[in-house]
Amino acid sequence: MRIVLLGAPGAGKGTHCKKIVERFGLQHLSSGDILRQERTKGTELGKKAQSFMDSGGLVPDQIVVDMMVSAIKQASTKGFVLDGFPRTVNQARQLDESLTKAGRQIDVILNLIVDDGMVVARITGRRSCPKCGAVYHIANMKPKKDGICDKCGSNLVQRPDDTEKVVENRLKNYYDQTAPVVDYYKANNTVYDVDANGKPEDIAAEMFNMLEGLPAEQKRRS
Ligand code: AP5
Repeated sequence: MRIVLLGAPGAGKGTHCKKIVERFGLQHLSSGDILRQERTKGTELGKKAQSFMDSGGLVPDQIVVDMMVSAIKQASTKGFVLDGFPRTVNQARQLDESLTKAGRQIDVILNLIVDDGMVVARITGRRSCPKCGAVYHIANMKPKKDGICDKCGSNLVQRPDDTEKVVENRLKNYYDQTAPVVDYYKANNTVYDVDANGKPEDIAAEMFNMLEGLPAEQKRRS
């Protein structure tokens, strides 16, 4: 399966992608995670992306498209879940063009819908593990020991763009540039809207049901 997960900042894309990839044996391709890795490594790409990310703006389309098309080419043949990409209609068109050239297509889009009022609390309370990428929340998904990753024991950190001020800009950019991607996909693809306001385990169960109920041709392995 080739899945795109759409949703506002803090909708739970990363949280639920991890569950989907575990369940279906797919690869998780997060544009935000790849950009953060490039920054940590100090690459040219990471340096170019830094100011856009820290201000809550979008990294220019061509940089992200080249990066993600390359990641998709190297992805497992079992399929992948795209998290945070595509984020503009132009990115979605370029992704479609690239997949079509390879005789492939996106099978399903899951669109996580969360109330704006939830977003700030979720994002400002998020803590992430810089080593293994596990994600926690100071109130909703606490690690067993405060500030320490359950999985690898590293000190948890707060992302520099997880402040209230930057979240406002990320949310504005979501409505201006990413929400139209949902309509782009609704014209030609299967899009499932998922209420992402509830408990993570209920949301995951709803997504698993949707994915397991897909027609066989959409669950094919490439
Ligand atoms: P990116 O890393 O993609 O950030 P984002 O889209 O803003 O999404 P988040 O990671 O903030 O949220 P999420 O939906 O994954 O939520 P999570 O599961 O962590 O991008 C960062 C930046 O990189 C962008 O601003 C941009 O600059 C750049 N970028 C990336 N891709 C790009 C692209 N394609 N084009 C251009 N630029 C790009 O959950 C959040 C918190 O809530 C966690 O603490 C979690 O524990 C908690 N939580 C989740 N679900 C629930 C629930 N149901 N109930 C309670 N708490 C919950």
